[in-house]
Amino acid sequence: MNPLRIKSLDAILATAEKKSLHRSLGPVQLTLLGIGAVIGTGIFVLTAAAAQKAGPGMMISFIIAGAVCAVAALCYSELASMVPVAGSAYTYSYAVMGEMVAWLVGWALILEYALGASAVAVGWSGHIVGFLDDIGIHIPHALTVGPPISIGFIKGGEIGGVLNLPAVIITGIVTLLLVIGTKESATANAVLVAIKIAALLLFIVLTLPLVTGHMDNFSPFTPRGWGNPLDGTGTGVLGAAASIFFAYVGFDAVSTAAEETKNPQRNVPIGLIASLGICTIFYILVATGVIGSFGAQPLADPATGQYFADGSTELYASAACQAAHAPLVCSKEALAHVLREVNSNPLFGNLIGLAATIALPSVVLLMMFGQTRVFFVMARDGLLPKGLSAVHTKFKTPWVITLVTGVVVAIAAAFLPVGSLADYSNAGTLFAFAAVSLGVMILRFTDKTRNRPFKTPLLWIIAPLSIFGCVLLFVSLGTESKQVFFGWTAIGLVLYFAYGFWHSNVRKGIIEDHENDADLPPPPGTT
Ligand code: ALA
Repeated sequence: MNPLRIKSLDAILATAEKKSLHRSLGPVQLTLLGIGAVIGTGIFVLTAAAAQKAGPGMMISFIIAGAVCAVAALCYSELASMVPVAGSAYTYSYAVMGEMVAWLVGWALILEYALGASAVAVGWSGHIVGFLDDIGIHIPHALTVGPPISIGFIKGGEIGGVLNLPAVIITGIVTLLLVIGTKESATANAVLVAIKIAALLLFIVLTLPLVTGHMDNFSPFTPRGWGNPLDGTGTGVLGAAASIFFAYVGFDAVSTAAEETKNPQRNVPIGLIASLGICTIFYILVATGVIGSFGAQPLADPATGQYFADGSTELYASAACQAAHAPLVCSKEALAHVLREVNSNPLFGNLIGLAATIALPSVVLLMMFGQTRVFFVMARDGLLPKGLSAVHTKFKTPWVITLVTGVVVAIAAAFLPVGSLADYSNAGTLFAFAAVSLGVMILRFTDKTRNRPFKTPLLWIIAPLSIFGCVLLFVSLGTESKQVFFGWTAIGLVLYFAYGFWHSNVRKGIIEDHENDADLPPPPGTT
């Protein structure tokens, strides 16, 4: 009867055994799945926020964020190879650090997946609005952004805004697709990955040759310094790294597909590390192209000399942002904007915008899918009301939880700006990554003899580095995001002791209760 009770690893693995017939994914499909989940709003949109926080120094931010993800991915790989089941960080934590930590990780994953999906929906909105504008259809400003709001720690919106209608619509469509169980086939995922890679390649090919003629764009390199985690502003190179971390999130989707993977012990680590490596290379080249071809200096208020907050009403209302040929930091479709500005043929910029418009909904789908599965597993374990895990008789999907997820994602997307959503999402993700990194070390002590098909190399260096990196990025976030995280965690703890603690299957001695999940559709992009 204690909140540190663990769920036995053997019981968790029994589920995986049952599902062994469904295994179909190989290393290439897993890598494509990872890239499909990773490339999205982060690179296509948040590059502008990173520039406002760090200037050209954002190149280093991309490297720092990528490095933290790389060490975290190595830790993920060991657990994913040992425990190839759904629920990812939540499930691993349950087996290693006990129920309360698992609950907190699962609760933090709601920030990662649900608010992450909202962030990508808002990023998509910026692109569709820009695209429609190009073809002469103007959506009123009031319907593209929320009103100015300030509820406790949460701030957002713009003067004249009502709600971000396109973001709500795309969330509604994706929710519907998930409820009726429409599968994004592996082929569809591969096509979308190809579109995204082609867009980034086009960007790189058209911008990198311009770099040498504009070396002055790299100076000053760190106009806002390296960042001070203690000043609460979330700026500088470290602040930008904490935000741009969002661009790498999603590789853990690979580990959620472990149950559908052939030889998961070998292929999951390959999928995790390959997808992350490929994305990192692209991001660094894209960031170099952005800075070298167009420039990435942050904007300051001419009256006060103070830098604007990224994504703020004041920034967008500034004369520089209102002018034609606005700087990068004003754009809601960063890469498309840069290409439109540096290339005399507007077609190329529009193509990048179109690629993002086509491809981002699948990132929303994957993140919402991840959310429904974590909720589902938590409800199945008794930590959330069982009714939430109801599976639709016809569609065989967890429809109740999917609708709840859709409503949460839509509300957040309707009213909050992309940068804040991504930062809140990052706070939850960093917590989950740190928990996984700690878990893998603990398990080396508590379950020494279990077969570890993938062993994290140099674990005693890599895992502490991962935890250090996650903590460093977490403290480098702005104060608001940290407050949202702690407020959210406090609510989670209250709920746990009010409900989950008492209803947990493990408390009741129910070990196996997985009759429904064999019928659930597999993750998008896997079949
Ligand atoms: N990494 C994903 C994106 O940037 C979540 O959209």
